[in-house]
Amino acid sequence: MAFALGPRAQTAGIRLTAFETIGSTNAEALARVRAGERGPLWLATTHQSAGRGRRNRAWVSPPGNLAASIIQTIKAPPAVVATLGFAAGLALDSTLREIAGEGAASFALKWPNDVLADGKKIAGILIETETTPEGLAVVVGIGVNVVAAPDGMPYPVTSLAACGITASAEDVFAALSDAWLEFVTLWDDGRGFQQIRRLWLARAAGLGKPMAVRSGSVTLQGTFETLDEEGRLVLAEDGGRRMTVAAGEVHFGAAMSAGAA
Ligand code: BTN
Repeated sequence: MAFALGPRAQTAGIRLTAFETIGSTNAEALARVRAGERGPLWLATTHQSAGRGRRNRAWVSPPGNLAASIIQTIKAPPAVVATLGFAAGLALDSTLREIAGEGAASFALKWPNDVLADGKKIAGILIETETTPEGLAVVVGIGVNVVAAPDGMPYPVTSLAACGITASAEDVFAALSDAWLEFVTLWDDGRGFQQIRRLWLARAAGLGKPMAVRSGSVTLQGTFETLDEEGRLVLAEDGGRRMTVAAGEVHFGAAMSAGAA
């Protein structure tokens, strides 16, 4: 089956280039930005040989999974652009809920921008940027475990197939391209972030629960209270002190000790 945009993305004039296989759709997108591409353009594949994850990790995706990146040029300061990840998370979460249908799995968003299915990671987002004369070119890369989750990960992972959901990467992509349009329109170059924030919190994993957040060499523990108005995680420590974290890795429940290691 070939990749195609959803009907709303098609009508909006968004473009798509699909690949049988590629190193990394994010790396390709950034190369195209440097060559003058400003988007909106999706790059999509079912096979990456050098996928990139957050925190300089590799993103391993067995063939048949979805890897897609969109290039958008945004006229907003970098701190505002950082909040686009929450719109991407909502688009991804909405897509997976739509594809899965009622009751197939329980989806939730994990700060800053993973999607969990039944508490296990099923999808991740990597945002990379490049300054251009027209504004900040943002590459939003999305990986979804459709047919299989990679082996040997240091955290629980799952796939749509493992949740009993039959769908192809192409099905997920078509829905995602429409959902992306919906949420990036709502985000509105950052002007709509407060609404995005409310929607994100309504789907957040671990809200009000204990968590550990590892940020560089520091690990904080406390209760996940909220997101602040810039999308930073707000943690209430046992003594009542509030900490805000701009970047880090969250661990819940039994995995909290791994976060503290
Ligand atoms: C994460 O570490 O959770 C982020 C994973 C992002 C993976 C996607 S797959 C499509 C795009 N191309 C890449 O090389 N990475 C992103």
